[in-house]
Amino acid sequence: MDALVVSKCNKLSGKINLYGAKNAILPILAACVLTSDEVQLCGCPHLSDIDDMLAIIASIGGKVSFNRGQISVCCKAINPYTIDHALMRKIRSSVFILGPLLSRCGEAEIALPGGCEIGQRPIDLHLGGLKILGVDVEESPYKNTVRCKGRPRGGIVRLKYPSVGATENLMMAAAIGTQKTVIYGAAKEPEIVDLAMFLNTLGARVFGAGTDLIVVEGKGRLHGARYKPVPDRIVAGTYMAAVGVVGGDVYIEGAIGDHLDAALHKFRIMGLDIEEEQRGIRVRQNGRVKAVKQTVTLPYPGFATDLQPLLVAALCGAEGESVVTETLFENRFRYVYQLQRMGADVILDGCNSAIIKGKSLFGADVYAQDLRGGAALVIAALSADGQSTVSGVEYIDRGYQSLSDELNSLGANIKRLTLK
Ligand code: UD1
Repeated sequence: MDALVVSKCNKLSGKINLYGAKNAILPILAACVLTSDEVQLCGCPHLSDIDDMLAIIASIGGKVSFNRGQISVCCKAINPYTIDHALMRKIRSSVFILGPLLSRCGEAEIALPGGCEIGQRPIDLHLGGLKILGVDVEESPYKNTVRCKGRPRGGIVRLKYPSVGATENLMMAAAIGTQKTVIYGAAKEPEIVDLAMFLNTLGARVFGAGTDLIVVEGKGRLHGARYKPVPDRIVAGTYMAAVGVVGGDVYIEGAIGDHLDAALHKFRIMGLDIEEEQRGIRVRQNGRVKAVKQTVTLPYPGFATDLQPLLVAALCGAEGESVVTETLFENRFRYVYQLQRMGADVILDGCNSAIIKGKSLFGADVYAQDLRGGAALVIAALSADGQSTVSGVEYIDRGYQSLSDELNSLGANIKRLTLK
């Protein structure tokens, strides 16, 4: 397990270049299974989740390579029954492979991804949708696997909740075929729009992504392509929160303001000076930020649950009292106990609201238990008097390509230790 030793920092200044979004790249990689041609992706970060997804594709016979941000995947001949179940259980996003595998091979057996650090995360909406599309789904609770048979035939799916993963899985399941699939109640995240654009680049016919009604007209065969995934809005929000914590002047190249509307609104209430430019966003802050009375996480375009821990970290030092309510994942406040070790005045009201009274923090030994909660500890530690040690960096590596190096390039002082 590695740890980050974070020293107090006065301000951050400089420029960050955003890379492609993890949450766009993972479903796009799964979608590569839909074609027997080569797909090339550029601008991809080196993240452990991406390595794991590539290894899953390799386990079914795909040829994969990843070099300096360029990924190549070619799924010429694949065998759905050789999929690596241990890897499938390791990352949640492995479930994305189910829709494309069924579409391509007409059968698959996958290991259920199970619950994770931030909540139970069932996949009933994925499986229910596939059943409506004509797939036979047989869950094996003892083996923790699911076996599916039949090519998705098209149909009308009404999602009772706008699940990002279920919307993406169903879009991919429906992309090859001869019939039409309509998804009502679809999620509207920018990564869904990006997946639709990617599928259409392969020759698919996906309409309406970004609204709650998506139509996929099955296309017999998809071809290869070269594609650049959308920049990572959650990483952009992380650097904005970091500027909120210690102040400074940071230009985030590639950040798209429209994708961050709800977050920009909150950061502006805190007093951050945010300029949306053509190629990125400039964030400036001088002195202490102000509290934000009420924030509730919601599906897009609402305030993103993935930015919730980062916002709380930034509010820990704010002037006044803030309340942040989580509505998507039941276990998303575990990092709060770690912030308390740094002296943060954060009280959990039940399990879904945090009441934060701003005050200064002090250095402490804390540990990351999930990706965004871990990043929140690192940015909170930037303002803490003395030194903090954040262990469990492997969680942070799942979604940030060297968060410590990038913060150091802005003036932070963070050292990575490899603990035996
Ligand atoms: C994706 C993102 C994750 C983000 C989340 C919400 C990726 C790789 N991950 O996760 O970073 O936090 O969206 O924006 O894109 N649910 C069910 N049944 C299902 C599916 C979901 O009950 O079959 C529930 C979940 O438990 C959760 C809510 O729906 O409470 C939202 O989940 P979902 O939108 O599916 O999130 P993910 O796609 O897993």
